[in-house]
Amino acid sequence: MEANNLKISKKHMNLPEKVKIFDTTLRDGEQAPGVALTTDEKIQIAQKLDHLGVSTIEFGFPAVSEGERESARLINDLGINANLCGLARVLKNDIDALLDCDLSYMHTFIGTSPLHRDFKLKMGKQEVIDKAITAIEYAKDHGITVEFSAEDSTRTEEDYLIEVYKAAEAAGADVINVPDTVGVLVPTTAKQLITSLKKELNLPISVHFHNDFGVAVANSLVAIEAGAEQAHVTVNGIGERGGNASLEELVMTLKIAYGMDLNLDTTQLFNLSEFVARITGIKMPPTKPIVGENAFAHESGIHVHGVLENAATYEPIAPELVGHKRKIALGKHTGANALKAKLEEYDIEMNEDQFNQVMKQVKALGDKGKCITDADLKAIAITILGKAKEEAIKLLGLSVMTGESVSASATVKLSINGNTKETSHIGVGPVDAALNAIQDLVKDTTDIELEEYNIEAITGGTDALAEVFVITSDKDGNKATGRATREDVIMASVDAVLNSINKIIMIKES
Ligand code: KIV
Ligand code: ZN
Repeated sequence: MEANNLKISKKHMNLPEKVKIFDTTLRDGEQAPGVALTTDEKIQIAQKLDHLGVSTIEFGFPAVSEGERESARLINDLGINANLCGLARVLKNDIDALLDCDLSYMHTFIGTSPLHRDFKLKMGKQEVIDKAITAIEYAKDHGITVEFSAEDSTRTEEDYLIEVYKAAEAAGADVINVPDTVGVLVPTTAKQLITSLKKELNLPISVHFHNDFGVAVANSLVAIEAGAEQAHVTVNGIGERGGNASLEELVMTLKIAYGMDLNLDTTQLFNLSEFVARITGIKMPPTKPIVGENAFAHESGIHVHGVLENAATYEPIAPELVGHKRKIALGKHTGANALKAKLEEYDIEMNEDQFNQVMKQVKALGDKGKCITDADLKAIAITILGKAKEEAIKLLGLSVMTGESVSASATVKLSINGNTKETSHIGVGPVDAALNAIQDLVKDTTDIELEEYNIEAITGGTDALAEVFVITSDKDGNKATGRATREDVIMASVDAVLNSINKIIMIKES
């Protein structure tokens, strides 16, 4: 049975018949600090957005560089279904740069708030209106679609804002966009503003909400309830400062809670999110709604029991709907049902006594606050079943050198399936050097990446015991934790990494 009680009453809403999704990942998303996309990356993201089915893709700002213009031309040549939009200030040069790329959709803006008028533009109210009119008329003379934004609209005097938008409408704009440039709206004010603009304007209204207070999606939803026909979003909500309204959150809420048909292939969402996170380097927290690693993960015995009987008990939507996967996680809250399901998933059969031993170890690890990966569980089960082979990799020797103004280096000697191998590596410190050497030595057996490294001193003093916890993964997606406690930090790190690599090898061979 599906979760079917999510639809909300639309009685007091002015919902539009259709809501368009305008994606600005490649423009506002790229303005997130540290993000710079190559032309090729922009092309790949644009293609994925087009497969998802968004109505407009704002690819960038043609006036800023030749690279931006090249991206525009190349994406244009793909013949995508979405409108391809470029950003332009209300300046002839910016508009010419956009026309030069043969774009037929322009998003143009000028600041309207007192802060922008007085400090950034140093223009009076009428001058701002005149600039907007000239730009819109110039673009319309060239036959393109014009979406007009009053930048910082939400800190602009409301009567003046209406005057600006009415002037834009009269000048021939096609869409009025309302940017909450510094994310100061809350749902109540967002609804009031859009309700009042809807009364005054005839053009479709679009919203572009930033997430400084974490309410950009909620604000976009109430704006739509008040009649906004379009919402600007970015994949994973990336963008300036706290980012923009998140595409996946807005789309899924409209689809599931509001029952709106957006004509999007939502099964693409998880893949798109992962791709953008990888390309931009902005990783999503595990708790990120819809696309986070834990968005469909269940650990507590009570929840897992419910989900195994009927997933809708603890899931508002099915993970497949967004291309994600349900995950039964193991930890201190794990119940017998979850463990049984996990062991069945891996075709591991055991008697009651063995099962109880596995459960005891899982709980003991969970009590220490540790996560238990699937590879960990398999390694525990294989050991309890007595099927564990001798560890494939053993440490035979280690020496490190470190100091001031020289690179740290480490020489590591390992026995790998009985063969002795030795190598030296440098690193930013002795631990890094030793781990680099291990990675190099084992690469023919298994290609390992260190995903997480944590160190904790568990007693005080210079001879404190150090506990190192790591997670490594291989290219097939196997992940295992490793832990070790020693007086020597470097030895603890090496032991922990070898512990996790041995688990990955063990489950691959089992
Ligand atoms: O947030 C904003 O105000 C913008 C403008 C370019 C419209 O992104
Ligand atoms: Zn913005």
